[in-house]
Amino acid sequence: MKGLILSGGTGTRLRPLTFTQAKQLLPIANQPILFLSINTMRDAGIHEIGIILGNTAAEVRAAVGNGEKFGVAITYIEQSEPLGLAHAVKTAAPFLGDQSFLMMLGDNVIHGGITHAVEQFIRQSSDALVLAGPVANPEQFGVIKVSDERVVQLVEKPQTFVSHLALCGVYLFQPIIHEAIRAITPSLRGELEITDAIQWLVDNGYSVTHCLTTSWWKDTGRPSDLLDANRLLLQDITHAIEGSIDAQSEIIGPVRIAQGAVIKNSTLRGPIAIGKNAHIEDSYIGPYTSIGDEVQIRKTEVEYSVILEHSVIDQAPRLDQCILGRSVRIGRTSRKPRTMRMVLGDSSIYEW
Ligand code: DAU
Repeated sequence: MKGLILSGGTGTRLRPLTFTQAKQLLPIANQPILFLSINTMRDAGIHEIGIILGNTAAEVRAAVGNGEKFGVAITYIEQSEPLGLAHAVKTAAPFLGDQSFLMMLGDNVIHGGITHAVEQFIRQSSDALVLAGPVANPEQFGVIKVSDERVVQLVEKPQTFVSHLALCGVYLFQPIIHEAIRAITPSLRGELEITDAIQWLVDNGYSVTHCLTTSWWKDTGRPSDLLDANRLLLQDITHAIEGSIDAQSEIIGPVRIAQGAVIKNSTLRGPIAIGKNAHIEDSYIGPYTSIGDEVQIRKTEVEYSVILEHSVIDQAPRLDQCILGRSVRIGRTSRKPRTMRMVLGDSSIYEW
């Protein structure tokens, strides 16, 4: 069976971070989200993977390469415009051929894996199987209604209540899905919706089944989701210290400190991930924080945050629930007048 990961789209809800980088490459627990999807597919036994690319194609290619480091073979497929999940499948049709396939959305994290879904699909030999999980805010997802084990209705971003069971971005299809996609037309928001194609299967008598997630899952499309996914993933880290910690520092709970990182006169309260060659001095780093490679933090308290590589934080007020992009600088200056001087990109958020 082949795999298809969708890594196109625009990432508007994660601006300004996504002005300069692919949302699927934003890190959680210091690992790009897309890498987690590739590993999840590989662990489910799928080694031939197509990746849909949008306008961040070059960056994704450079980060993922030919797939060797994940133990898979990657084929890149460029989508002209983000015209919908079903349009992405249509674009990938030559790669997928006449085989069944597994599709995943490159910005979703499925904890606990998807092997059970693949096994159920093969066992049941249904025409489509979707992975679903209960959510409190179904209006932000595609949802399914189930009767006697069969999926009977699918609605994308329902305006009125249909069900609490959301599509988690994992789909298994027989090649009949290509016929369904040819039969549908764009939705009101102008996208070819995969939910409409699956509904076409239901309406035309094909079998559509579902299975439930075994643990948590997250669509990391918004800043608060990214922070929450980071929290959830950090809960799993094992204590591993490759960097150096001086005698004046205190480490509490699980902390992963990569090679070359230096911790001086600081308190670290895990779970925390600290990247290569990061430098932390006279600071407090609190739970659920990921600090990227080469980051420098001095005389600052940071908690429940994601700090990307090469950023520098020096004598800042306490940071909480922050996502900082690459090479961000926050700090005090001795220059007068003592005003706040800022260079913030479009759509930046600064709350005091
Ligand atoms: O997170 C689960 C939800 O994902 C499902 O419940 C929905 O049914 C499904 O439509 C999807 O909704 P989103 O609004 O989150 O979709 P989004 O536009 O964020 O796209 C999901 C991924 O697919 C993302 O990695 C970008 C990629 N993509 C998206 C489009 C529209 C493409 O590669 N090509 C596209 O044309």
